Amino acid sequence: MGARACREPAHEHSGGVACSGPGFRSGWIPSPAVTEIRLAEVRDAEAVRMIYNLEVTTATSTFDLVPRSLAQQEQWLAQRSGAFSAIVAELDGTVVGFASLSPYKERAAYRTTVEDSIYVSRDHSRRGIGTALLEHLIEIATASGFHTVIARIEASSDSSRALHTRCGFELVGVERQVGRKFNRWLDVAVLQRML
Ligand SMILES: CC(C)(COP(=O)(O)OP(=O)(O)OC[C@H]1O[C@@H](n2cnc3c(N)ncnc32)[C@H](O)[C@@H]1OP(=O)(O)O)[C@@H](O)C(=O)NCCC(=O)NCCS
Repeated sequence: MGARACREPAHEHSGGVACSGPGFRSGWIPSPAVTEIRLAEVRDAEAVRMIYNLEVTTATSTFDLVPRSLAQQEQWLAQRSGAFSAIVAELDGTVVGFASLSPYKERAAYRTTVEDSIYVSRDHSRRGIGTALLEHLIEIATASGFHTVIARIEASSDSSRALHTRCGFELVGVERQVGRKFNRWLDVAVLQRML
């Protein structure tokens, strides 16, 4: 790509990210192929749901309350394609993060808007993997002709807000107490990047 979708990290992350697969070009990534970003496949279901279910059961990053079964995760992956593909980050052959684009809303006039979602294994956080995944989602969204990307983030999530801000997203609003999990109300920060 021409310009990088996200700012470079303030410090050197351990491990770099190289990218492969249809539609992928190299990003900001500082060092060679320790990690690969590729399209997700159904065979990634177990690894993806392990990352996701930890968030479901222990965090407010997702508003899901019930962990996904393997069959549900396989179905979710099987349904992802084209502009709404899922991608994974692999480190030495192990999936350490995943991300996807989804339709923003069902009604037809919203079709030029897309919503992103990113999850990185806690054992591999702060290594630039989230940035690399989001940068690739932005590339996919741009190549697919979308006009804008929305991120809906639990408002107290400093990490996700910082990640999106680095990648050019701006806060456009906060939805107050629209979720409830772990016996508390949750606000949602809406961040947006024009493409
Ligand atoms: C948010 C998330 C995807 C970030 O992934 P990551 O691989 O750690 O991100 P990066 O290493 O690329 O970090 C990018 C920037 O995000 C910010 N960031 C990441 N983790 C942070 C933390 N724990 N606290 C504060 N800022 C953080 C920093 O600005 C960081 O840049 P820096 O390390 O150069 O300071 C990851 O923490 C995660 O999966 N969280 C749970 C799921 C979630 O909230 N997903 C987003 C909802 S869609």
